[in-house]
Amino acid sequence: MKTFKHKTILITGASSGIGEAMVYQLLDPTVKLLLVARSEAKLQTMAATLNRQGVQAQPYPCDLAQPGAAERLFQRITEDGHRVDVLINNAGFGKYGRFDQISLADTLEMLRLNIENLVALTHLCLPHMLERGDAGILNVASTAGFQGIPYLTVYAATKSFVIAFSEALHAEYSPHGITVTCLCPGPTTTAFQERAGMPVEGLRRLMESPEKVAAAGLRALLRGEIVHVSGAANAVVAHLSQLTPRRMRLAITQQLLGPRDDA
Ligand SMILES: NC(=O)c1ccc[n+]([C@@H]2O[C@H](COP(=O)([O-])OP(=O)(O)OC[C@H]3O[C@@H](n4cnc5c(N)ncnc54)[C@H](OP(=O)(O)O)[C@@H]3O)[C@@H](O)[C@H]2O)c1
Repeated sequence: MKTFKHKTILITGASSGIGEAMVYQLLDPTVKLLLVARSEAKLQTMAATLNRQGVQAQPYPCDLAQPGAAERLFQRITEDGHRVDVLINNAGFGKYGRFDQISLADTLEMLRLNIENLVALTHLCLPHMLERGDAGILNVASTAGFQGIPYLTVYAATKSFVIAFSEALHAEYSPHGITVTCLCPGPTTTAFQERAGMPVEGLRRLMESPEKVAAAGLRALLRGEIVHVSGAANAVVAHLSQLTPRRMRLAITQQLLGPRDDA
């Protein structure tokens, strides 16, 4: 896929952080933006502002952590006459803490949002993309997905899934004109850390702005990259972690992220 022009683009997690930054980098009168998140009022304000600027944008408030949410969302979008050419699976959240101390409800919510409904939306959007033959999927994973991360155990595992899923889809669908790219941000200054309840002291030096991460992801998709780590320092860290013995890299992450009083 060489351009976003004349495409219908569905963005999950469009109401804040990286997803919101992507929305403002996709403004073009030939593009149709379908904005998905839970915050209905925020999406409505965004869409109204964009419409006034001559950009077609429609809000689709939806809780993608609910079972069957992707199917219901896809039905609404289809009934409104939209066909998704570019799917940006960006919505996601993490929870920080020892595995047994994070509630099972939060853990299952993470699996449904970060994995289940991401896979479902991809499955539902692919038939039209195959028909069109000029389409793209951008899945937002994380550098946390390159290894096990203590105290972000389930979150990191969901992102490992997204990386492996995206990589294999890239091979299956690029011969059919569909680019599948996985964006792996490192620590980014969004609402993510607060919702995760995680410490950020050790990460500050690696922090990037959501605008920078969004631009890197959209560029990587147009270039047809398979996996893109945003930020040079993050790319080096991600690469080195693959070369580092498991025990050593776990010790390093434990040092960076481990709570001071693990009791
Ligand atoms: N920030 C980082 O350090 C970092 C690093 C690596 C990867 N990432 C990944 O980047 C992606 C975007 O996160 P962000 O950093 O931009 O965080 P963010 O500012 O918290 O944005 C998350 C977005 O997802 C939406 N969302 C959350 N739960 C949802 C649900 N149940 N249903 C539908 N939408 C939901 C949120 O909107 P509502 O609250 O309105 O629903 C929001 O628009 C995530 O997949 C995250 O894992 C972030």
